[in-house]
Amino acid sequence: MNPEPTDSTPPLGARIDWATVELPSSWPDQLDLARPSDFLRIIKHLFGPRKPVELPANTPGAPELPRYLLQEFHHLPNGNFSSFYAEGYLWAFDATMLGLSRRMRASMAERLKGHAAVLDIGCSGADLAAAVRDAGVKDVVGLDASPYMLQHAARRHPGLPLVQGLAEKTGFPDGRFDAVAACFLFHELPYAAHDEVLKEARRILKPGGELLICEPSPDQMHLGLWELFKKAGPLALWWKMIATLAHEPFVHDWHQREPKEWFASQGFELVEDTTEVPFRTWLARRAN
Ligand SMILES: C[S@@+](CC[C@H](N)C(=O)[O-])C[C@H]1O[C@@H](n2cnc3c(N)ncnc32)[C@H](O)[C@@H]1O
Repeated sequence: MNPEPTDSTPPLGARIDWATVELPSSWPDQLDLARPSDFLRIIKHLFGPRKPVELPANTPGAPELPRYLLQEFHHLPNGNFSSFYAEGYLWAFDATMLGLSRRMRASMAERLKGHAAVLDIGCSGADLAAAVRDAGVKDVVGLDASPYMLQHAARRHPGLPLVQGLAEKTGFPDGRFDAVAACFLFHELPYAAHDEVLKEARRILKPGGELLICEPSPDQMHLGLWELFKKAGPLALWWKMIATLAHEPFVHDWHQREPKEWFASQGFELVEDTTEVPFRTWLARRAN
């Protein structure tokens, strides 16, 4: 539920030191899992139906967060809005991707390193933004809607500029960046939001600027096990299981996208489209 804004609720984009700010504790953060009743509550929650996220009073950005975000993605209790489960998610994501997500971010950073200013949208723990910074880009910013994710990002990557915002409304000026990168963001957005994010990316990119998107490949969702095995080898079963069991309410919206037409409709030109299970990567350039 979105609480009413109060005078002390910082809006999206507020300047906040994410490493040290005290965030309001959400209901799962108040549980003590050593207490049998709390442990049972979380187990019942995990195996029960997904519930809407409850934002505690004074959650930064609360009044501006769209409803679609307030869901329990990946079965996380209270979704991306709990400190404990957001941190668990950062670990679990890389673990379930068997380390390939780290390799993917490193290769995205390698492709982005020639740019002067890069924005990582939906940055979560900001490992991509940090990889881009480590590759030599001085002006890198990570943006995420969840203050809990930003807090972990700030503590993992001290000194990295981090902003709370929406990928569809970043608050940055026109032409601010040379490249925008999104790693596993778009498949978590409803169909209409894809266009909004693309419009916003076009606005904040310089003419000729690049948009690099890496998302789950549709293969693990759509191919039969044997076909997937022929493409991905013995890990086919694992990728199928992850694609089927992860709770991602909008993943089918994303897999409907045909990149060439979609990018063209929003003033981009598709430069590359590569699938290597479990990833699909699109590189697009802002047409002038
Ligand atoms: C799967 S995680 C991204 C993983 C991350 N990019 C990485 O490299 O590991 C999706 C993230 O996108 C954020 N998010 C979802 N919708 C968003 C939106 N409209 N604007 C900004 N962030 C959003 C979520 O809070 C979450 O942290």
